[in-house]
Amino acid sequence: MKSRTADIHLVSSHREVYEPCDDSFALVDALLADQTNLINHNPKLCMEIGSGSGYVITSLILLLKESLPNVHYLATDTNPIAARVTNETLQAHGVSAEVVCTDIASCLEERLSGLVDVMVMNPPYVPTPEYEVGVEGIASAWAGGENGRSVIDRVLPVVDRLLSERGWFYLVTLTSNYPSEICLVMRERGYASRIVVQRSTEEENLIVLKFWRDEDEESVVKETASVSFLTQFSRSLSSFVEKQWR
Ligand SMILES: C[S@@+](CC[C@H](N)C(=O)[O-])C[C@H]1O[C@@H](n2cnc3c(N)ncnc32)[C@H](O)[C@@H]1O
Repeated sequence: MKSRTADIHLVSSHREVYEPCDDSFALVDALLADQTNLINHNPKLCMEIGSGSGYVITSLILLLKESLPNVHYLATDTNPIAARVTNETLQAHGVSAEVVCTDIASCLEERLSGLVDVMVMNPPYVPTPEYEVGVEGIASAWAGGENGRSVIDRVLPVVDRLLSERGWFYLVTLTSNYPSEICLVMRERGYASRIVVQRSTEEENLIVLKFWRDEDEESVVKETASVSFLTQFSRSLSSFVEKQWR
C-alpha cells in the first residue's frame, strides 16, 4: 500500500500559525500506524479540530484517498490565519476539505451530531496560566491552562456528541495532561482507549491516544466505582509514572 503523508515543503506557513512539530508528526505517525484499520473502517466523514498549518488533515486525506475516494473532510481552527493556511496546504497537495474558523466545532455541532467517523486533534496542551488560553495569535496554539487541560476538557464532550456510533478519536497528549485521567473521563462516556504512539523528546513525553465507543466500558464504570474516585486515583498514578520518566 502506498503511504503518502503531506510534503513538509508544500505545507504553507505564517508566523501566527503553528508549524508542524514533533507533536504533529506523532499524530500523523499514529494515523499511519492505523492506516489499514482506518481504510477497513471505511469512514464517510473525517474531521480535525485545530488544523493549524493543515499538515495533519492533508496527511489524513492522502492516507485514505486512494482506497476511499469519497470521504468528506472538515477542519476547524479558532485562528482565521490558520484556516487560510490550512486551505493553502490542502490546495498545494491537490486535495480538499471544508475549513471553518470556529471555536472547537461550535457552529457545526447541530449539523454534524453523531456523524463524524474519525476525529483527530493535536490540542493546545502545554500547562500555562489560565489567562493565556485562547488569546489571539500563536500562543493559542499551545497554551493549555491548568495541567494543559483547558481546551482538552472542553473538547471531550463535543467529540462525544459529534462522533458516530462507530466513531474513532485520536488525541495528542502530554504526560503532564494526565492522559490516564482523560481515558477515565472518556470511559465514563462509554469509550475504550489505547495508546497508538508514545514518544519522548528532550522537552516532552508525547502520547497519542485513540478512543472508540465500547458498551462494555460504560457498564464496567457503573459497576465498579464512581469516576471521581477513579479520577483521583488516576491522577496519583499519572504523577507517579511521570516522576519515573523524568
Ligand atoms: C498544537 S496546534 C496543532 C496544529 C496542527 N493540527 C498540527 O498538528 O500541526 C493547535 C491548533 O489548535 C488551534 N486551536 C486552539 N484552540 C482552539 C479551539 N478552541 N478551537 C479550535 N482550534 C483551536 C490553534 O489555533 C492551533 O492551530
